[in-house]
Amino acid sequence: MRMALTMNLQQLLGIALPIIQAPMAGVQGSALTVAVSNAGGLGSLPCAMLGTDSMREELAAINRQTAQPFNVNFSCHEPPAPSPEREARWRAALAPYYKEFGIDPDAIPVGPGRAPFRAEAADVLDDFKPAVVSFHFGLPSPELLARVRALGAKIFSSATTVDEARWLEAHGADAIIAQGLEAGGHRGIFLSDDLTTQVGTFALLPQIVQSVKLPVIAAGGIADAKGVAAAIALGAAGVQIGTAYLLCPETTTSAVHRTALKSEVARHTALTNLFTGRPARGIVNRLMKELGAISGAPPAFPLATAAIAPLRARAEAQGFGDFSPLWWGQNASGCKELPAAQLTRALTAAL
Ligand SMILES: Cc1cc2nc3c(=O)[nH]c(=O)nc-3n(C[C@H](O)[C@H](O)[C@H](O)COP(=O)(O)O)c2cc1C
Repeated sequence: MRMALTMNLQQLLGIALPIIQAPMAGVQGSALTVAVSNAGGLGSLPCAMLGTDSMREELAAINRQTAQPFNVNFSCHEPPAPSPEREARWRAALAPYYKEFGIDPDAIPVGPGRAPFRAEAADVLDDFKPAVVSFHFGLPSPELLARVRALGAKIFSSATTVDEARWLEAHGADAIIAQGLEAGGHRGIFLSDDLTTQVGTFALLPQIVQSVKLPVIAAGGIADAKGVAAAIALGAAGVQIGTAYLLCPETTTSAVHRTALKSEVARHTALTNLFTGRPARGIVNRLMKELGAISGAPPAFPLATAAIAPLRARAEAQGFGDFSPLWWGQNASGCKELPAAQLTRALTAAL
């Protein structure tokens, strides 16, 4: 019944396939976006870790290589006030590792490493007019959102609970990404920090579909054609997929990340706040085992990253992912070393 009332992703965006390649900051640039958009899905460019010059370069590369719709993704967290006490507590927790690697903690700069959506980023978008702008952690201010809308872009954002989906609908989203607990990477949770509110995709999706009038996109743990068909049968307008794309040749997934993904350790993932300060799902590694995956030690998002960066660099140079965020979802079964276009088409083979 409801399916007749809301549009599916193809109708909403004029694309051929109901697949969104999840934006994945740190492991991809425009090459993946272009490959997926040209294959008929919606390619995404994550911008959370890009300065405006890099953003401009990546968007220009997309425009040169595809005329198809694409998505540009931003974080919209509230930048935290730096807290010297919390930074000191975090560095104290990491002190044994600094000692082990001979790193001088006083030489490590403090800084956010990620910026939320801001006026300078909106200025860049003015020149590129993406079909979709998606957000993680809620929505930006009404003024910034109005600028995105004036571009003619559709506005998508992730909801991890029914309350968040209703909030996004009330505050101007055009579609809701229902992000289940299986998903790799950061939880989009933004109305609460209570992780007991988080549920799996096929529990969350039908409840959000019942609760909002907007198209709902399923995300989290969907990795093959049958999973895509199941999500559509449960009322999804489309499916957003991240983990399954991580080994595609068009990604920039690091060598340690790739090695971990292809090994048995990849079967064990957990939510952790150690790498950024916000919960995200990744492969359980040494830091998570030794400090506890969810810890009171890191400072507020995204300030935790700076203090870990030199440890990560040293370990990665030796071939270890012990201090790296190895973001990865719970369902690895569809992750293959296939060109992204081929994977995108295969994901819709059961529709
Ligand atoms: C490596 C990685 C990085 C991610 N980075 C982002 C990001 O920058 N922005 C975002 O909105 N979501 C990000 N996500 C979450 C995805 O949007 C999506 O919710 C998730 O990949 C879906 O679950 P799946 O990984 O099981 O397919 C990331 C996910 C992964 C695996």
